[in-house]
Amino acid sequence: MTRAQRKQDHINYALSTGQQRKTGFDEVAFVHQSLPNIAVDEVHLQSEIGELTWSSPIFINAMTGGGGESTTKINQELSILSRETGLAIAVGSQMSALKDPAERKTYEVVRKHNPDGMIFGNLGSEATVQQARDAVEMIRADALQIHLNVIQELTMPEGDRDFQGALERIQNIAENLSVPVIVKETGFGISKEAAESLSDSTISAIDIGGFGGTNFSKIENQRRKRMLDFFDEWGIPTAVSIAESYAVSDKPILASGGIQNSLDIVKSLGLGASAVGMAGVILKQLLETGLNDTIEEVNQIHTDIQFLMCALGCRRIDDLHKVPMVLSGHIYHWLETRGLN
Ligand code: FNR
Repeated sequence: MTRAQRKQDHINYALSTGQQRKTGFDEVAFVHQSLPNIAVDEVHLQSEIGELTWSSPIFINAMTGGGGESTTKINQELSILSRETGLAIAVGSQMSALKDPAERKTYEVVRKHNPDGMIFGNLGSEATVQQARDAVEMIRADALQIHLNVIQELTMPEGDRDFQGALERIQNIAENLSVPVIVKETGFGISKEAAESLSDSTISAIDIGGFGGTNFSKIENQRRKRMLDFFDEWGIPTAVSIAESYAVSDKPILASGGIQNSLDIVKSLGLGASAVGMAGVILKQLLETGLNDTIEEVNQIHTDIQFLMCALGCRRIDDLHKVPMVLSGHIYHWLETRGLN
């Protein structure tokens, strides 16, 4: 199977396996406030992750790259979407373009159409410092995401089987790169133990990439006969993973994994996230309804977030970290068991 075919498979299966809605957000509630003492116009949606700032609390999370004409077109449209709505955007893993320069244009198109935007590069934890520098330079990236995807690798016959030394390599990159490093999971969640280890390093932020949305175990299991389907239900639900990581880490927490709508976004911010990533839902919307409708949808989400923050009396994203919330059911039990309630 060619790399291009694998990338196309991932898109097709991501769309067909869909979002599972197992994120835990349905067990998280805000407490209504009758006297918020605020006007909608006073609500500001700016994200601040250390030195990284952009005008929205949302970023488009890493998806495509490599794979030829169809992925180039998708990346061009995602880039225009980010430019028109002020979202930050991450490109998909750039390793293929570091190995084959012919693949560079599917990534470069993202910077070309959003020359002044907030753009994140993306590599796996096997990357060297030089590869990290080259990935940043390729798209003039403002930050570099390094993804952790142990379960996806294990479910791929051709995947990695040795995960030693990842933290040391990430630390080495963070110490030697000119832009911030964001460590991200890819749909299985960051535990408090992993968040603690990452907090001791010099990385700049943690994207908890939780369970409940796009599921790479399901995607890989559908692509072949040998099923490791015990991994299909594996992972830390997104709402839980935000709470676990925020409780123990002094790094900014980014939330992603199954974020579907404005209420999921505001609940993520309420649980402690500083910005929120969306991948599968945005890709699906773009491919099903086109660029213009997707731009309109994102603008609507921004307005909805402003209304929700107004109802909660919050002028800035950080204010959401202090609003009272009630947790119930599985998520309450989980956090109690983990000593985090
Ligand atoms: C991804 N994701 C991903 N992540 C990453 O760090 N590098 C990558 O190259 C890719 N590639 C990729 C392709 C496709 C088609 C999808 C749908 C996703 C994972 C993505 O960034 C995110 O972590 C997960 O999809 C969970 O978020 P959602 O989709 O539930 O919002």
